[in-house]
Amino acid sequence: MPDFGGAALGDPVNWTPDSWRQRPARHMPADYPDPAALAAVETELSSYPPLVFAGEARTLEAELARVAEGRAFLLQGGDCAESFKEFHPNTIRDTFRLLLQMSVALTFGAAMPVVKIGRIAGQFAKPRSAPTETIGGKTLPSYRGDNINGMEFDAAARTPDPQRLLKAYGQSAATLNLIRAFAGGGYADLHNVHRWNLEFVADNPQADRYRALADRISEALTFMEACGITAKEVRSIREVDFYTSHEALLLGFEQAMTRVDSTTGRWYDTSAHMIWIGDRTRQLDGAHVEFCRGVGNPIGIKCGSSLSPDELIGLLDALNPANIPGRIVLITRFGAKAVGDGLPPLIRRVIKEGRKVVWSSDPMHGNTIKAENGLKTRRLDDVRSEIDSFFRICRAEGAYPGGVHLEMTGQNVTECLGGLQEISESDLSARYQTHCDPRLNATQALELAFVLADELKRSRERGE
Ligand code: PEP
Ligand code: CO
Repeated sequence: MPDFGGAALGDPVNWTPDSWRQRPARHMPADYPDPAALAAVETELSSYPPLVFAGEARTLEAELARVAEGRAFLLQGGDCAESFKEFHPNTIRDTFRLLLQMSVALTFGAAMPVVKIGRIAGQFAKPRSAPTETIGGKTLPSYRGDNINGMEFDAAARTPDPQRLLKAYGQSAATLNLIRAFAGGGYADLHNVHRWNLEFVADNPQADRYRALADRISEALTFMEACGITAKEVRSIREVDFYTSHEALLLGFEQAMTRVDSTTGRWYDTSAHMIWIGDRTRQLDGAHVEFCRGVGNPIGIKCGSSLSPDELIGLLDALNPANIPGRIVLITRFGAKAVGDGLPPLIRRVIKEGRKVVWSSDPMHGNTIKAENGLKTRRLDDVRSEIDSFFRICRAEGAYPGGVHLEMTGQNVTECLGGLQEISESDLSARYQTHCDPRLNATQALELAFVLADELKRSRERGE
C-alpha cells in the first residue's frame, strides 16, 4: 500500500511545498474576505486522496521523453476553463472521444504513438488581463475561474469563496473517475473506432474521412486477429493511456495536493499528471516557478513573445537542472504573425545548450481577436498558419516538432471562426458557451487533426 504521509528524500535545494509563499505570486486572488477560511479549506484538502499517482506522472515523463527524442507525438487539449455549469458526463465523454478520434488520425499519419493529455479534471483557475471588469459604469473583480469566484456580474458571485475549491476537487475527482473508466473499461477499445464519431460531425466531409480511416483500422484488427494478435493479449488495442493537466496557477490548492511519493521519496503534485506555468506567471524569481521546480511531475512552460532565450535557459536551469528528458514541455504561443521572429532564437539557444525538451505548439493563445460584437474569438486559418510555421521552423532549426496544445471541446459550439462549417462572426453568438477563451468545436478540431496527420505523414515520407 502506498503511504500518503512521511518525509521527502532528494528534494531540490531549499525547497518545501510552501517555499513559494516567500516569492511574489502574480495572478493569484488576494481578496478572499476570510483568509482563515481559505487556510482551513487548504488544510482539509491536504488530507484528501490524491487525484493521480506519482507513478503515473513518471510514466508520462517516460512517454514525453520519447516525444523529446522524436519517437512519439503529443496531443494536449481541452477546455480553456472547466466550469461547474458545463459539468456533465456527456461533456466529458465527448471531449474524451474527440481526443481519441484525433489521436487515431494522428497515429495513422505519424505512424508513431500519440501521447494524450487532457486539459481536464482540474483546469479551472485563469490568469486575467485585468483584475477588474467594468460594465455599465459598475466595476467588480474579474472572473478568475469557477474554483475561485463566479462568472455572474454581481458582487457576491465575484467574491472569492474557498468552498469552491472543495467543489472543484470533487468535480475533478468525478471527471477523472469517468475518464479512467472510459480509458480502461472497454470504451476506448480500438474495435469501437466507428462508435467514437460524434453525431453532429456525421454530415461533414471529415466525417467521411474519419469513417474511411475507421474502416481501415477495423480491417487491420480483423487481419491481426486472424494472425492471433488480439485485444486480450495486447493492452494497447483495448485500452488507452490518458493523462490530465492544468495550469498550476492557484498555488495554495497545488500545495495542498502535493504529497511525498513512497516509492521515490520525492514530492509530486497529485492534482494532475502534468502541470504547466502560464505565460504571465513564469518569472524566474516568482512563486509559480518556485513551486514547480520542487515537484516531480512533467512541467509545461508557456513561451510567448516576451520570453528571451536567456530567461528560457534560466527557467530550464531552475526547473530541470539535471536535464531529464520528458520533464519539460515548451509550449510555444506566439501567434501566427509573431512565431516567425519569436521561435527560432529560442530553439537555437536550447539546441546550443544541449537541453532536452519537448517542443509543442499552442496555436490558440497568440491568435485571440475580438469580433465586432465584442466576443473573443480565433480564426481557424490563423491556428493552422501558426501550426504550419511551427513545423517549418522546428525542421529548419533542427528541432523535432513534438506536439500541439489546443483549446477544444467535443460540443458543437460556435466560438472560433472558419473551418468546414464556415462559422462566421454572425454565427458566434448562437452557441458561445466558453467560460474563458474560445474553443475549437469537434468539427474544427477533427479538421485540424487531419491537417496535422497529413503533415506528419509527409514528413515521415521525406524521412524527417
Ligand atoms: C491558457 O492556456 O489558458 C493560458 C492562459 O495560456 P497562456 O498562459 O499561454 O496565456
Ligand atoms: Co485559454
